[in-house]
Amino acid sequence: MESLMNKNVFITGASSGIGEACAHAFAYEGANLIISARRFEKVEELANVIREKYDVKVLALKIDVTDYGMVEKAVSELTDEWKNIDILINNAGKGLGLEKMYEDDPNSWDEMIDTNIKGALYVIKAVVPGMVERKSGHVINLGSIAGHEPYPKGGVYCATKHALDAITKSLRMDVIDKNVKVSTIDPGMVETNFGEIRFYGDKEKAANVYKGVKPLVAEDIAETIVFIATRPAHVNINEIIIMPHVQANPFVCHREE
Ligand SMILES: NC(=O)c1ccc[n+]([C@@H]2O[C@H](COP(=O)([O-])OP(=O)(O)OC[C@H]3O[C@@H](n4cnc5c(N)ncnc54)[C@H](OP(=O)(O)O)[C@@H]3O)[C@@H](O)[C@H]2O)c1
Repeated sequence: MESLMNKNVFITGASSGIGEACAHAFAYEGANLIISARRFEKVEELANVIREKYDVKVLALKIDVTDYGMVEKAVSELTDEWKNIDILINNAGKGLGLEKMYEDDPNSWDEMIDTNIKGALYVIKAVVPGMVERKSGHVINLGSIAGHEPYPKGGVYCATKHALDAITKSLRMDVIDKNVKVSTIDPGMVETNFGEIRFYGDKEKAANVYKGVKPLVAEDIAETIVFIATRPAHVNINEIIIMPHVQANPFVCHREE
């Protein structure tokens, strides 16, 4: 296992869910963190908790990944202490709505495409050149089982995660001679704020998704991402698909009555 001690880890979408759990898991291993999201007060609060709990350095940044200017400025203005990013956890993302495509709202499509595809690309464009120059780094994208099998009423979310899968595979080929690793972790159901965002704040609809099921929790994903990030130098985990024990794929899920 490679050590994460004093590595610089940049996490997008760290104000909640999987990103927040990754912040704890990587800090526990001694990594220094750049944590970012649009809700700056949330990442600032998390930064304080993590500094206190794990005695590592933490930089909190307000970054909207859909704004390339903001992403580029934030990364290019990093001081010497922070500018060498060892690990990028490209996590910011969302699903919006669960509707038949012909009845769906195109604004939600724009937001998912802007965040999950273009946002992930913008962060890659800002961070990967430094990794290539230093001949060192690891990009870990947050894919989904939706990137493997489309499901009904989720066409555009599934399309964004299929696109991210293509980006992961393509980027891996682009940096194959640069000592930069590229991985994806593709979860099934994880209980986070994802559901509430997807159903525009409707807590009941969000809770129904997990009815009769013990879903994954954000910590399960964070622990697995730490595993991906700590393999020996000659090993790359290309892809991990991870689901609750009772979920077989997007369609088949065993629910206790
Ligand atoms: N939960 C699941 O079942 C599941 C399954 C498979 C894959 N995933 C993927 O896992 C990733 C994390 O989701 P989660 O489950 O942890 O959901 P979550 O709890 O809703 O967290 C999403 C994070 O993304 C951030 N975000 C959203 N839009 C952003 C933007 N424009 N710029 C910067 N940050 C933005 C949010 O922060 P702000 O709102 O503060 O910006 C938040 O920190 C996503 O890519 C999601 O697609 C989730």
